[in-house]
Amino acid sequence: MTYPPFVSERERKPGCTHVVLIVTGSVASIKAPLIVAELLNYQDVKVEVVATKAAFTFFKPEEIHHAGSRVWKDEDEWTEGYEVGDPILHIELRRWADIVLVAPCSANTLSKIAHGSCDNLATSLLRALAPTTPTYVFPAMNTLMYQHPLTNEHLRIVEEVIEYTVVGPIGKQLACGDVGLGAMTEWKDIVQIVVNRFQLKRRQDDTIQS
Ligand SMILES: Cc1cc2nc3c(=O)[nH]c(=O)nc-3n(C[C@H](O)[C@H](O)[C@H](O)COP(=O)(O)O)c2cc1C
Repeated sequence: MTYPPFVSERERKPGCTHVVLIVTGSVASIKAPLIVAELLNYQDVKVEVVATKAAFTFFKPEEIHHAGSRVWKDEDEWTEGYEVGDPILHIELRRWADIVLVAPCSANTLSKIAHGSCDNLATSLLRALAPTTPTYVFPAMNTLMYQHPLTNEHLRIVEEVIEYTVVGPIGKQLACGDVGLGAMTEWKDIVQIVVNRFQLKRRQDDTIQS
């Protein structure tokens, strides 16, 4: 699905909390529609999803639409016929965001963040983000990927140099069958972080927020 150009000034609603959810190529991306739907159960919340190419293996865009959000992909950034002044998607999304969640964060995207790579929509957005925008990273990977010495170093850089907040991973039986540390923080706990931070109030009705 192709959406009209995204312009932060038009899309930001006064009094709303604007959440960018970045999803990457981990099985835990199957939880993305649940995260979106639950966030939208709170008053004055807007959600935009940014997905890496690999993330689309784990959910259908229609599931995100059904939950009430759009899902932006790399191709949406690369429209033909760019003219100076046209909106640039990763810049518009970072202007729009009050908070960014990278949930799940794959080992690959974690490494790219730590190295400052910006070769897709997700990492370009992160690289262009104001340091004042709260950013949470929720790693999710196989236990041995998590125990790899480079993961520890990437997490250190992400926390100490870039100053993002890293939450998890947690230990349980992973989708691959291994048991150990590496699973994404429970999706409800991820939503709760946003609820607590912005003191969100649950909606009383079932109306979809426009
Ligand atoms: C079925 C499947 C499940 C995967 N699960 C994970 C995972 O949980 N965590 C992870 O770091 N990589 C996982 N990978 C590997 C990543 O998808 C791969 O490294 C990819 O390049 C990540 O790209 P991205 O960071 O741009 O999303 C999985 C791959 C497949 C095929």
